[in-house]
Order: sequence, then C-alpha cells, then structure tokens
Amino acid sequence: MTTDHDEHQEVSVRHRHTLTRLLAATALALPLALPATPAAAAPTATPTRQLDDVIPAPVETRPDPRGTFTLSPLTVIRTTPHSAAARQIGRQLADTLRPATGYPLPVLPVPATPLPEIALLIGGAGSRVGQEGYQLDVTRHRVTIRANTPAGLFAGTQTLRQLLPAQIEAAQRQRTTWAVPGGRIIDYPRFAYRGAMLDLARHFHTVPEIKTYIDLLSQYKINYLHLHLSDDQGWRIQIDSWPRLTTVGGGPGTGVDGVGPGYLTKDDYKAVTAYAAARQITIVPEIDMPGHTNAAQSTYAELNCDGVAPPPRTDIAVGYSSLCIDDELTYRFVEDVIRELAEITPGPYLHVGGDEAHATTDEEYATFMRRVLPLVNKYGKRAYGWNEVMQVDPASDVIAQYWGTGTTNADLAEAVARGNKVVMSPANKAYLDMKYDRNTPLGLSWAAYIEVRDAYDWDPAQRVTGVGEDALLGVEAPLWSETLRSIDDIEYMAFPRLPAIAELGWSTAASHDWESFRARLGEQAPRWRLQQVNYYPSPQVTWS
Ligand code: ACM
Repeated sequence: MTTDHDEHQEVSVRHRHTLTRLLAATALALPLALPATPAAAAPTATPTRQLDDVIPAPVETRPDPRGTFTLSPLTVIRTTPHSAAARQIGRQLADTLRPATGYPLPVLPVPATPLPEIALLIGGAGSRVGQEGYQLDVTRHRVTIRANTPAGLFAGTQTLRQLLPAQIEAAQRQRTTWAVPGGRIIDYPRFAYRGAMLDLARHFHTVPEIKTYIDLLSQYKINYLHLHLSDDQGWRIQIDSWPRLTTVGGGPGTGVDGVGPGYLTKDDYKAVTAYAAARQITIVPEIDMPGHTNAAQSTYAELNCDGVAPPPRTDIAVGYSSLCIDDELTYRFVEDVIRELAEITPGPYLHVGGDEAHATTDEEYATFMRRVLPLVNKYGKRAYGWNEVMQVDPASDVIAQYWGTGTTNADLAEAVARGNKVVMSPANKAYLDMKYDRNTPLGLSWAAYIEVRDAYDWDPAQRVTGVGEDALLGVEAPLWSETLRSIDDIEYMAFPRLPAIAELGWSTAASHDWESFRARLGEQAPRWRLQQVNYYPSPQVTWS
C-alpha cells in the first residue's frame, strides 16, 4: 500500500503547475500561495464523530485515531480527470460544504495536488464494493472516496457529510473545527432497491416539494422514488393524447377535501427525474389501475361501461372505481398512457398499481392485467405492481410490491417460487403515513400505529413466509397523502422513520441493532434542525 506521504512526494512537483492554472481558472479568490512542499496537515483536532456514526450503518469501519482530517481554507476537492460524473459529484459536495465552512473548496479534475484534499475517484475501488458501494479512507492529509460508479461515489459523499460535525448543514458560516475521524470505511448495500414513495394524487405536491424530499432521501442512500401519479381523487401527470386528465382530473377542486389540485407537466416530470438522477435516485412512475381510477373516469365519460361520468371524489374511500374491462377503448387509453409515460421515464420500471380493485371480479382483473402488463414491456419498461398483481401469475420479470400486514401470502410465495422479485413495503411497518401513536395529528391508522422502533425492528427477508433474501429486490417506504398537504407534513411523517427503512435497505442484517440505531438517529436531529426538517421527536429516542 502506498503511504499518504509517498503519494505526496510523487505528485507535488509534477502537478503544481497544472494546479496553479486550474486554480486561477476557477476565479476563486483563494487566500493562498501554493506551498513548495506538501501542505502541513492542519493541527490535530478531536473529531466529534466516529466512523460508525452514520445512517445507514456502514458495512465495515476501521478507525485510525492518528488519521483525523480537518477541512481548512486550503482544502481542494479533487476528482478523477476526464470524468464529468466525478466532477459533478465534486461540485455537489462543494455546494454542500461551502456555506457552513466558508471555504472556497475548488473542484479540480487533476491527477494529484499538493494540497489537503478530498479526492473523489471513480475506479479502483475493488470488486467488493460492487456497483453502488464505496471505500472511504481518511488520513491527516486527505479524504479519499473510491467507487466503481457515480452511484457509489455519491453514496460515499453522503457518508462523509455525516462524518463532519452537524454544523456542516448550516446555511451560514460556522466557527468550529471541521474534523473527520480517521480510518477506513468499506460500504455497499444489502439490496439494490431502496425506495420511497410519494402520493401526489390525494394531495398534489409541487416540484420544489418533491425536490426537497429527494434531497432528504439522497442523504440516506435511497435510490428509487416511486411517484403515485393517479388515483380516485386526482390525475397528476400530463398525457397529451388525453389532455383533460390534468386540466380537469388534476384541476381546481381535486384532491382530498378538494384542496389538493395540481399536476406535473411533462417538463416538470423531466425536471424531477433529472434532479433525482443527479442525486442517484431513479423515478418510478405509477398509474394505478384498473381500480383507483375515478379521476380519469369522472373526466372522460367514455372510460365508464355505462358511458356516464361519475362525479369527482374528494373523500378517502377506496375500492369503488374500475376501468371498463371489456371495452377496447380502455386498452387504447391504457396504452396511450403507458406509451407517453414510458417516453419520459429514463428508469427501468413502470408501476401499474393493481391494488384494491374491489369493483372488478377476479376474472376481469386477470383479463385486464394479462393485457396491460405486456404493454409495459412493449414500451421498454419492466412492469411493477402492488402484490395483488401476483394473482394473475404474471411473467417472472414482473415485480411485486408487498403492502400487506400479514406474514403469509400464497400468491406472493408462489410468484417467488416462479422467480418474481419482491419489494417489501408491509403497511404495518413501512407505511410512513401511519400515525406514530394515537396522538399523532396527521396520518391514518388502519394498518397500525408505527413508532420508530416498529419501523426499524423487522427484517424484510423474514417478513413473509416463502419470501426470503434472494427473492427481494429491496424495500420501500410509501407515504400516502390523504392527510398530508405540505412539505412540513411530509417531513413530519417521514422523519425519523424514513432513515429506519433506509437502514433496512442498505445495512447488513447482521448489523441490525435497535440501540445502535437509536443512538445514531438521535445524533441526526441537529442536522435536521439546521436543514429545517420538521421531524417527529419520538420519545423512544434521546435527541441531541
Ligand atoms: C395500498 O396501500 N392500497 C397499496
């Protein structure tokens, strides 16, 4: 292994001139003259954090008390040369660290610098960390994050953020010592799919609100955001071939109690997917069908078997609506929607809902799903649905999202035996819209009260008989919006339970430990306060 010191000796002279030019080009008023010899490490500081003070818990940490790194006005962020992705992640990290530190933190795509640096490197991370993991090394002279992919590198930067004092999240310059604990972290996820869901149908949430949620999710290594885009109360995505879906179905007076109107234009949706992608999050769009369709059916009379449009609905009942299964027009409608949505969706999945189709017989449901699931493939996407979809014995590439509260489900277990993959979202564990306890002012309670420990203390691979580790694509924390209007409402239900589900998705089953999680969670609170996150201060946690 090359020592930190040797690396400095080797690179300092060779790259000084490049660096000088780059620094000049950044036009940042750096209060420095480049030293002729390697920069002295900042005075030894005592880190306030430890390598394992991170959510989700890292796979492996090896502390080195001699290796404390301290951010200083001289620190540069160095990224893999010729890698636009690494440079972009470097810029994001600089944007995160500049307000509180007040340091210039120039981002330099050079092979080496003589300065104290945060090196963000794609390549050379070793196969163990896989496609989404990273290796983070902290010595006195530098922090180095190595990953095989941009996703892994981004994940490493989120860990680094949590290794800095909480004041790093402040919007104004703070007087503190920015120490990062020394040593090595090797980290990679347990599951490929670590999701959250936001319901835009019951109350619409705006693009800035969705972006705020994405910012919060990305800190906990969530990599999928499922958007529930249609339901009985509202239709929230522009479809050009059926234009009144949004102007009427998502228009004034829609949403629960008539106070959740709005929709995403295609440009809005593209902006959200791009914003998410820059934070290594893939959007999963859902159009719920054949039930949960009153907004579409009240907008277009021809989508009803009797040709009569029902009134719009602003209540929270479920299970009464259904597309007309035996009408060819239904499939033209569904194909138009899937085609247009697939066209603007860069991610691999398209969710077709399929839950609570109580106004449809089992035969009708099977007829519908057997026509619709292949349409998703026709437009280049992989079909995904709530677990009821498994009743129709779909092709083995269809993904089931389990939302039940029980520990057995024969259709799901049989689907798993045939090779279908599952995302675990048991409503009595993972639903972020369930009240914490009977006094919670927001949310519902039909599945359970879910305190933080309830959200954390379960194993996705031991939840449903016959649905083990190998069957799981991952976990997801859905947030339904019947009672939620604002981003403050969203945050109150998601925090602190979202980090619990994020840890179930990322960290090893062996590391699962309530007392450890509880302690780490309590330490997140100062960050949330500085980020103005409206969290629920659960009495189960000792909040810093
Ligand atoms: C659901 O909660 N109906 C998926």
